Amino acid sequence: MQQNKNNNTPKTQNSIRTVLVTGGAGYIGSHTVLELLNANYNVIVVDNLSNSSKESINRVEQITDKKITFYNENVANQNALDNIFASHPQIDNVIHFAGYKAVGESVAKPFMYYQNNIGTTLSLIASMKKHNVKNIVFSSSATVYGLPTACPLTEDMSTSALNPYGNTKKIIEEIFIDEATADSTFNVALLRYFNPVGAHHSGLIGEDPRGIPNNLMPFVTKVAVGKLERLNVFGNDYDTPDGTAIRDYIHVVDLALGHLSALEKLYSGNCGVVTYNIGTGKGSSVMDVINAFIKATGVDVPYIFAPRRAGDAPVCYASVQKAKKELNYTAARTLQQMCLDHYIWQKNNPNGYEE
Ligand code: UFG
Repeated sequence: MQQNKNNNTPKTQNSIRTVLVTGGAGYIGSHTVLELLNANYNVIVVDNLSNSSKESINRVEQITDKKITFYNENVANQNALDNIFASHPQIDNVIHFAGYKAVGESVAKPFMYYQNNIGTTLSLIASMKKHNVKNIVFSSSATVYGLPTACPLTEDMSTSALNPYGNTKKIIEEIFIDEATADSTFNVALLRYFNPVGAHHSGLIGEDPRGIPNNLMPFVTKVAVGKLERLNVFGNDYDTPDGTAIRDYIHVVDLALGHLSALEKLYSGNCGVVTYNIGTGKGSSVMDVINAFIKATGVDVPYIFAPRRAGDAPVCYASVQKAKKELNYTAARTLQQMCLDHYIWQKNNPNGYEE
């Protein structure tokens, strides 16, 4: 029988661990790749650049002065994945970011979301099984909690989906849970991200949404650099202290570091399925974000109040106790730091990675 090459592999001090990162050119992916390189992991990225840029990889190499093995491939292409695993038999862990992520687009094009997000995951699992790789960190989302009925959200709360995007995250979590139930050597860390914002302090990598941003922070920074006229604050009549909706914003570098903590957990022994919220545990309103942004950058953000956005929860923030206890993980960066770093990235790169 082939030995599981994951957590049972004896670890010598000089052993270099090799991680395959799908979607490693994207916003969270590129920041995670950077932290993996800083921690001396060997990193192989597979990304078809459908919603990202190869320039992010070049910049991570520039910042770290290290090489990334990059494959421009669709993760749904199982032959391509098989070749990658075969060419790098030292891969012993996977971090799976690749996937579509726009809520509104998923409502308009559900099939595209199910086909892409679930299709890529199934190919990846098939290839992992073939090559006996049994550790994976999956990029899940707080969206799996549906409309929160009580906050802070704890990992044992029930899951539901509000839109096709959220449903793909929920279904993929279930696929991994079923796999790990059927195969006791399969280990998966489901990381439920709250609201990632900010950028690496170098200002060289950051979030590069195509078109007009859907999310708050990239919209705020585009207003601040004069690319957009003003922010619409969606709803000021929520039952919150200032009437605007509350979220748990987390610095993308802290989020990236959460993946390293999850990897350590997977490498430490057969853990089966582990699920963690990755947030700060602190709720901030839209007005808190605007005020923190102005304070951190000294730049004004013109805004108007607009009607609520359909499907938005009034309040959503994490309980972070489980990650703290089991991973010794805490997200330390402040809201002002998140605003400043996101702004510096946007200011230095007004057109994102495009020249
Ligand atoms: N908002 C504005 N104006 C904008 C954009 C957003 O007021 O132009 C408000 C929203 O109404 C919300 C808050 O800012 O109250 C945060 O909105 P985002 O779009 O930045 O983030 P969401 O919490 O809506 O969505 C995020 C992720 C989704 C994920 C969801 C639930 O982007 O992928 O959290 O976990 F599904």
